[in-house]
Amino acid sequence: MADFFNYQDNNLFCEEVSLEQIAREVSTPTYVYSTATFKSHYQKILDAFAELDPLICYSVKGCSNINILKLFAEMDSGFDIVSGGELFRVLQAGGQTDRVVYASVGKTDQEIRQAIDAGIAYFNIESEAELQNIINIATEMRKEVRAALRVNPDVDPKTHRHTTTGKKETKFGVDLERAEDVFKKFGRNQFVKLTGIHIHIGSPINSVEPYIEALNKTLAFIDSLRNQGFNIEAIDIGGGFGADYTAGQAPAAADYAAAIVPLLRDKNLHLILEPGRSISGNAGIFITRVLYLKKGGDKTFAIIDGAMNDLIRPALYEAFHFIWPVRVDPEFAIEKKADPVEIAGTQKFDVVGPICETGDYLARDRLLPPLQRDDLLAVFTAGAYGFAMSSQYNSRPRAAEVLVDGDSYKVIRRRETYQDLIDHEKM
Ligand code: LLP
Repeated sequence: MADFFNYQDNNLFCEEVSLEQIAREVSTPTYVYSTATFKSHYQKILDAFAELDPLICYSVKGCSNINILKLFAEMDSGFDIVSGGELFRVLQAGGQTDRVVYASVGKTDQEIRQAIDAGIAYFNIESEAELQNIINIATEMRKEVRAALRVNPDVDPKTHRHTTTGKKETKFGVDLERAEDVFKKFGRNQFVKLTGIHIHIGSPINSVEPYIEALNKTLAFIDSLRNQGFNIEAIDIGGGFGADYTAGQAPAAADYAAAIVPLLRDKNLHLILEPGRSISGNAGIFITRVLYLKKGGDKTFAIIDGAMNDLIRPALYEAFHFIWPVRVDPEFAIEKKADPVEIAGTQKFDVVGPICETGDYLARDRLLPPLQRDDLLAVFTAGAYGFAMSSQYNSRPRAAEVLVDGDSYKVIRRRETYQDLIDHEKM
């Protein structure tokens, strides 16, 4: 069905472990991840871009459990981080810090010192003011660091406005027109070697054209910098490769590579990629149980034990997540994630959580097999920005996280308790 999540005898498995078993033993709601999927998605990107010997920096923000970061550390992956907290996670997971790239429009002095001490590969610079500050700190620490200027190529990635990042009016990076001045001012610093260019235009980008457009503009800029004697060694093209929320929605890694590699061939640039969702998205699902069914106007609501605090993407971006029961009758056997499914006998449901907001839904007007109290539902493609964006809103302890490997699984984050809710509050 999707990577290593497949139905066997109409019962959903992650690799060789049944989701019913996990729900029984760990309860719900729970995030379940597949080790094999993380590994194979990472490997596919590495293989697709192999000709350029890229550094793949797994984007920590999408799915950051330390046990998952360990999988990447074991594969010698790099890491794309956006905070001191993410750097801490990478260090705890045994990641190689000289394979870490660090973007964020608001790095604090403390975070900058922490990253310099850790010896990261590149600071991805988001503004002239930030670069000036990093120069001040590196000079004071007498430490040499490398930096890549994040340029804003003003390309429309045709994705949700909240996750569009490479257009002029967004807060990220430096406009191409201003970027040259930054090099003129700071491009020959003794401590901060400005030898890279970074772009990240948005997420998800389900076509190759925005990358081509952004790369063409950026490569022309690199040519002009080189002509002025600046030494540019690396290009970091960010993340944003799509994931299949429905079957066949996103280009394969090989399709992105087929468009991107020819543009970079013979350019003498070290390629860095920052894939998040394309690796982690389909490596995780969210399992939740139906608590109640209820009619309201023309609608039927399936009220579940998961909610927007667990998975906020539908509420925040109107994102689509395919949902299907963990156990189905044979007539509802499903081959692929479709929107809408075309199976006779399905009914329309709004799948909603217990939170006191109308926006608390995981699906609206969704065709599903007839549901009953206690049915288990699988919410697919939840590995990226699922648990990572979860909260305790409505004082709901966060869900458990489980990592499956072959025929066994491990709870990699226990379900939070009520005590966890108040642990940091002063009595
Ligand atoms: N590099 C940079 C600089 C980024 O800002 C991001 C994501 C990535 C890499 C990884 O992008 P990916 O390959 O995962 O698409 N919460 C939103 C997505 C926000 C993306 C933020 N930046 C969502 O749930 O769709």
